[in-house]
Amino acid sequence: MRIAAAFLAATFSVIAVAQDKPAPAKDLVLNGDAKCTRCHDENDSFPVLAIGKTKHGTRADPRTPTCTSCHGASEAHMNKPASGARPKPDVMFTKTSPTSPEAKNQACLTCHQGGKRTHWQMSMHASRDVACSSCHVVHAQRDPARDKLEQANVCFACHKQQRAEIRRQSRHPTLEGKVICSDCHNPHGAAGEKMLVRDSVNDTCYTCHMEKRGPFVRTHQPVQENCALCHNPHGSVNDNLLKVRAPFLCQTCHEPTSHRGGVAGITGGSNSSTSSGIGITLARACLNCHTNIHGTNNPKDATNERTFRR
Ligand code: HEC
Ligand code: HEC
Ligand code: HEC
Ligand code: HEC
Ligand code: HEC
Ligand code: HEC
Ligand code: HEC
Ligand code: HEC
Ligand code: HEC
Ligand code: HEC
Repeated sequence: MRIAAAFLAATFSVIAVAQDKPAPAKDLVLNGDAKCTRCHDENDSFPVLAIGKTKHGTRADPRTPTCTSCHGASEAHMNKPASGARPKPDVMFTKTSPTSPEAKNQACLTCHQGGKRTHWQMSMHASRDVACSSCHVVHAQRDPARDKLEQANVCFACHKQQRAEIRRQSRHPTLEGKVICSDCHNPHGAAGEKMLVRDSVNDTCYTCHMEKRGPFVRTHQPVQENCALCHNPHGSVNDNLLKVRAPFLCQTCHEPTSHRGGVAGITGGSNSSTSSGIGITLARACLNCHTNIHGTNNPKDATNERTFRR
C-alpha cells in the first residue's frame, strides 16, 4: 500500500507540474469535477469515475453534487506547497480517515436531511458513530445497501447475532431477497423503537401479516401487545419463528396448573403426556387444542369461547 501510495504521489506530482502550464481540464462525470479529476480518474488507485453512472451523476439535475460537495473545498489539497507533503482533502470517508463521523455525515445531510432521515440524529446508528458511508458506497455503479440480495451482508458486517439467526431453519426469506432488513427497519432512524419502519412491532408485522390484526371476537392479550413476545423475527431453531416451543412458550406466562381439569388428555398440573388422548407436550402440545392462538371469531360455542379453538 505504502509503495503504491508513494508511486502514485510521484505520478501525480508529475501531472501536477504538467498542469501548471495552462491546459484547461474538462469535467469528466460531474459538473465542476475537473479541478479534481485532472488528478483523480479511473487510473487512480481508487477509481472515482463510476459515480457518474449513479443518480449523483445526473448532470442535468442541478441538485446533484460535485466532488467538493462531499469532500469539501480542499483548496490546500489541490494547491500542494512546493515542499512538504500534500495536505489531505477536507473530508475523507474511509474508515481510517481522520474526519469525524459527524463531519462525514454532515456532508451528506446538507442534501439528504429529511425524508427517511428525519430521525437520523436521534437514531442508534448516529449515536454510535455509524457513518452514511459505513453502509453506502457512492463511487460504484451499484450500492449494495440498496440491493435486495446484498443488503443483509452490509448489515451483517456489524450485526453478527442477526447474521446467525437469519440462517436458522425457521426464518424470513431474507437471504433470498424477499423480506429484507429494510422492510422492517429504517436504518436511518425512526420514531418508534428499534428503528422499525412503523411505530410499533405489531404495526410493522401487520404490513405483511394483515390477517393477524383481526379484529377478533376474542383476542389473546400478548398478540395485541407485541408479536416479539413469542416470535423472533430474524430466525429460530423452532418452527414458526417461535422463541421457545410449546408447551414451554405458553408456560412462560400460563401456570402449568391453570387447567381446571376435565379436559380429555390433560392431567391437572402435569407437564407430561398422558395415556388418554392428546398430551400437552406431544406433537403440537397446547396447540393441539388451542389452534387459533392469535385470536378467534367463534363466540357462539361456549366451550370454545375463551380458548382460541376454532
Ligand atoms: C494536483 C493533483 C491533485 C488534485 C488537483 C487533487 N488531488 Fe486528491 N490526491 C492527489 C494525490 C497525489 C493523492 C494521493 C497522495 C495523498 O494521499 O496525499 C490524493 C489523494 C486524495 C484522496 C485520498 C486521501 C487519503 O489519504 O485517503 C482524496 C479523498 C482526494 N485526493 C480527493 C480529492 C478531491 C475531492 C479533489 C478536488 C477537490 C482532489 N483530490 C484534487 C492529488 C490531487
Ligand atoms: C456524494 C458524495 C461524493 C462525491 C460527489 C464524491 N465523493 Fe469521493 N468519496 C465519497 C465517499 C463516501 C467515499 C468512500 C468510498 C465510497 O463510498 O465509495 C469516497 C472516496 C473517494 C476517494 C478515495 C478515498 C481514500 O481515502 O482512499 C477519492 C480519491 C475520491 N473519493 C475522490 C473523489 C473525486 C475526485 C470526486 C469527483 C469526481 C468525488 N470523490 C466525488 C463521497 C463522494
Ligand atoms: C449536493 C447534494 C448532494 C450531496 C452532498 C449528496 N447527495 Fe446523495 N443524492 C443527491 C441527489 C440530487 C440524488 C438523486 C435524488 C433523486 O433522484 O431523487 C441523490 C441520491 C442519493 C442516493 C440514492 C441513489 C439512487 O440510485 O436512488 C443515495 C443512496 C445517496 N444519494 C447517498 C448519499 C451519500 C451517502 C452522500 C454523502 C457521502 C450523499 N448522497 C451526498 C444529492 C446529494
Ligand atoms: C446502517 C446502514 C445505513 C446507514 C448508516 C445509512 N443508510 Fe441510507 N440506506 C440504507 C439502506 C438499507 C437503504 C435502502 C432502503 C431504504 O430506502 O430505506 C438506504 C437508502 C438511502 C437513500 C435512498 C432512499 C431515500 O431515502 O431517498 C438515501 C438518499 C440514503 N440512504 C442516504 C443516507 C444518508 C445521507 C445517510 C447518513 C446520514 C445514510 N443514508 C445512512 C442504509 C443505510
Ligand atoms: C458499521 C456498523 C454497522 C452497520 C454496517 C449496521 N449497523 Fe445497525 N447498529 C450498529 C451499532 C453499533 C448499533 C448499536 C447497538 C449494537 O451495538 O448492536 C446498531 C443498532 C442497530 C439496531 C437497533 C436499534 C435500536 O434502536 O436499538 C438496528 C435495528 C440496526 N442496527 C439495524 C441495522 C440494519 C438493518 C443495517 C443494515 C442496513 C445495519 N444496522 C448496519 C452498527 C451497524
Ligand atoms: C420481519 C421483520 C424484520 C426483519 C426482516 C428484520 N428485523 Fe431486525 N428486528 C425486528 C423486530 C420486530 C425487532 C425488535 C425485536 C424485539 O423487540 O424483541 C428487531 C430488532 C433488531 C435489532 C436489535 C436487537 C436488539 O437486541 O436490540 C437489530 C440489530 C436488528 N433487528 C437487525 C436486523 C438486521 C441486520 C436485519 C436484516 C438481516 C433485520 N434486523 C431484519 C424485525 C425485523
Ligand atoms: C415485508 C413483509 C413481511 C413483514 C413486514 C413481516 N413478515 Fe413475516 N413473513 C413474510 C413472508 C413472505 C413469510 C414467508 C412465507 C413463506 O415462506 O411461505 C413470512 C413468514 C413468517 C412466519 C412463519 C415462519 C415460518 O417458519 O414458517 C412468522 C411466524 C412471521 N412471518 C412473523 C412475522 C413477524 C412477527 C413480523 C413482525 C416483526 C413479520 N413476520 C413481518 C413477510 C413479512
Ligand atoms: C402468544 C404467543 C404468540 C404471539 C404473541 C404471536 N404469535 Fe404468531 N404464532 C404463535 C404460535 C404458537 C404459532 C404457531 C401456530 C400453530 O402452529 O398453529 C404462530 C404462528 C405464526 C405465523 C405462521 C403461521 C400462521 O398462522 O400464519 C405467523 C405469520 C405469525 N404467527 C405472526 C404473528 C404476528 C404478526 C404476531 C403479532 C401480531 C404474532 N404472530 C404474535 C404464537 C404467537
Ligand atoms: C407473554 C405471555 C403469554 C404467552 C407466551 C401466552 N399467553 Fe395465553 N394469555 C396471556 C394473557 C395475559 C392472557 C389473558 C389472561 C386473562 O384474560 O385472564 C392469555 C389468555 C389465554 C387463553 C384464554 C384464557 C381466558 O381465560 O380467556 C388461552 C386459552 C391461552 N392464553 C393459551 C395460550 C397458549 C396455548 C399459549 C402458547 C402457545 C399462550 N397462551 C402463550 C399471556 C400469554
Ligand atoms: C386436549 C386439549 C387441550 C390441550 C392439549 C390444552 N388445552 Fe388448554 N384448554 C382446553 C379446553 C377445552 C379449555 C376450556 C375448558 C377449561 O377452561 O378447562 C382450555 C382452557 C385453557 C385456558 C383458560 C382456562 C384456564 O384454565 O385458565 C388456558 C390458559 C389454557 N387452556 C392453556 C393451555 C396451555 C398453556 C396448554 C399447554 C400447556 C393447554 N392449554 C393445552 C383444551 C386443551
